[in-house]
Amino acid sequence: MPIVYDKSRKIFRLQAGDTSYIMQIVKEKYLVHLYWGRRISSYHESRRIIWKDRGFAPNPDTSDRTFSLDTLPQEYPQTGNGDFRNPAYGIRQENGSRISNLEYIGYEISDGKPKLPGLPASSGSKKDVQTLKVYMEDAVAGLKVCLLYSVFASESVITRSVIFLNKGKKPLHLTKMLSMSVDIREDEFDVLTLYGAHNNERNMDRRPLSSGTVKIESLRGTSSPHQAPFMALLRKGADEDQGEVFAANFVYSGNFLAEVQVDPYRNIRFQMGMNPWNGEWKLEAGEMFQTPEVVMVYSKQGLGEMSRTFHKFYQNHLVRSPYAKKERPILINNWEATFFDFDEEKLLSLARKAASAGIELFVLDDGWFGHRDADDSSLGDWFVDKRKLPNGLKSLAEKIHDMGMQFGLWFEPEMISQDSELYRKHPDYVLHTEERPYTIGRGQLVLDLSRKEVCDYVIAAVRQILKDNPIDYVKWDMNRHLTDVGSMYFEPDRQGEITHRYVLGLYYIMDVLTSEFSEILFESCSSGGGRFDPGMLYYMPQTWCSDNTDAVCRMKIQYATSLTYPPITMGAHVSVVPNQQTGRVSPLATRGYVAMSGNFGYELDLGNLTDEELEYVKEQIQCYKMIRPVIQHGDFYRIRNPFNENLAAWNFVSQDQKRAVAFFFEILSQPAAPVRILKLKGLHPDKLYRRYDNGEIYSGDELMYCGISIPLKKEDFRGEMYCFEEIEKGEENGH
Ligand code: DGJ
Repeated sequence: MPIVYDKSRKIFRLQAGDTSYIMQIVKEKYLVHLYWGRRISSYHESRRIIWKDRGFAPNPDTSDRTFSLDTLPQEYPQTGNGDFRNPAYGIRQENGSRISNLEYIGYEISDGKPKLPGLPASSGSKKDVQTLKVYMEDAVAGLKVCLLYSVFASESVITRSVIFLNKGKKPLHLTKMLSMSVDIREDEFDVLTLYGAHNNERNMDRRPLSSGTVKIESLRGTSSPHQAPFMALLRKGADEDQGEVFAANFVYSGNFLAEVQVDPYRNIRFQMGMNPWNGEWKLEAGEMFQTPEVVMVYSKQGLGEMSRTFHKFYQNHLVRSPYAKKERPILINNWEATFFDFDEEKLLSLARKAASAGIELFVLDDGWFGHRDADDSSLGDWFVDKRKLPNGLKSLAEKIHDMGMQFGLWFEPEMISQDSELYRKHPDYVLHTEERPYTIGRGQLVLDLSRKEVCDYVIAAVRQILKDNPIDYVKWDMNRHLTDVGSMYFEPDRQGEITHRYVLGLYYIMDVLTSEFSEILFESCSSGGGRFDPGMLYYMPQTWCSDNTDAVCRMKIQYATSLTYPPITMGAHVSVVPNQQTGRVSPLATRGYVAMSGNFGYELDLGNLTDEELEYVKEQIQCYKMIRPVIQHGDFYRIRNPFNENLAAWNFVSQDQKRAVAFFFEILSQPAAPVRILKLKGLHPDKLYRRYDNGEIYSGDELMYCGISIPLKKEDFRGEMYCFEEIEKGEENGH
């Protein structure tokens, strides 16, 4: 049983894969955290709380000076009655009071996992997962809270969410509502977070915990490229392959907060949830609010195991698209080839080249609608620009289909240009605050998705295009962040809700469209990987990883993105050199190997390639088709970290361990360079594998522990690929 309750000692033990998570009710009313870590078969109170009278620690009970909320490892800490650390939630009563005191009132255990209404969330069958609901109450405020823990039996994953219910007669304001809070009575950890920017998403930042708080957040209305909604605690010395890791990732696409606080007695509080800044919610009497979900992953073997746990969990329990388990088409996108400057003939000529090279999907990017020749017009006018496409979209899509390729289309549905028919008709659709001027971003404004009417307009507009045209794929873009957040359709005391209401509106739109058009493959995008989060993946099974297509930059971006998201989710394209973002000239082979390490495609004018290059592109495409099942549905192992050295390497292994594909990159050529050894990971030690390019045969343990020598080469930005396939014993021909 994943969840065990010991009645006599009032202890909850959650058993998920390799991890145990233990809580206890003390003094009949406080829910206390005791342990999160490697799975233990039973718990007999070895890790007792040592009660101690600490200075400045107030006591709820005068007869016991050793008991204080200030030092208690609380499971969902409140504020105002003695715990001076970061609270997990906050309230404001109608009388202005911000104090709250939650007491335990009961629990419930059920098989399966309840849905989170209106929110993306993981799911599982009654066999896969059990859910614990712990009920707490603040009788004075009339607040009831339900802490939800869903425990996955065979994965080291626990998900958490919280429901708030106003049981009182008066409105109650939630001022903070985190989804996860864990008090760990240890502090020897490093904190890992992923920071970045447009074109430079997800850099690894590992720092030791010291005093005070390490906090990352987004206040941009989206999860953002600036900080990923991810935080992990690594035991000192933990690395890719060993040591404990405690990770949390937020299934949410809006403002978030993740922090870890070290208290004066070297305990830590690890928290994640919606950002309380502009993240309030008013509960009328009888109303409920549920927080988005946090996915908590435990790994006893470093970041590699953490990642594979996230990858499998997201593919099996989060991504709801039928494409989760399917192979994804190799695409060509016209954006970097043409930008806004195209007509039907230009597109068809690109498509013909693509089809003859073996590409499977042609994607028409930005610029096909309204009169959009630049990025400051037409968003909202989702009807075809007849100047560029006089025969319409349908005819174009059919011609592409006739070439044997699928047809995909770009949208940016959350936006509105001031130069658009939509704006002229509905200036009120803009997200804005009365009396204040608009703040423009990329020449455009944001639609007020807190309003159902606006969401329904977006649904209708996109639906019409998808119905009228044979479209197989949609790229869903979002190119600016939220400003002037306000909506005159909500009362003044609900203006703090608009950021979250925007995200709920977006989820509503995506829910309707991706359900109605479930045969369409959706890819999300936000100026590249600016909104790469599990909330988006729930609706759309792949994400454009970055607008930066430079192979060397992509090594890092994809390496760090793989910490939480599987390579099948990462759009990765070969583009021209000099690269449009960095000016770098890297070999076509390397550009191919980096892009093949994800969800493969091209984004360049194939017409500008030499015959020799075009032939090589055809070979790349053939090659990817062969290795695609391993890349997209195999296990992923990182080998060399480009954040630390002049190298990058990783390999993929099929689920049955019969096939493996390894990539090795040396970034700058060096004189007197060492000979590098590539040690693969995840193979079966006893199997024999044949190397594709030269037919040599090695055992799995030889490839993993002994490794292969990489020949020296004088070449910058060099890439190599090695493919292996299992052979039956006896086939080895004397090797
Ligand atoms: C940003 C995306 O990341 C690009 O790939 C492209 O679609 C542009 N938007 C189009 O405006």
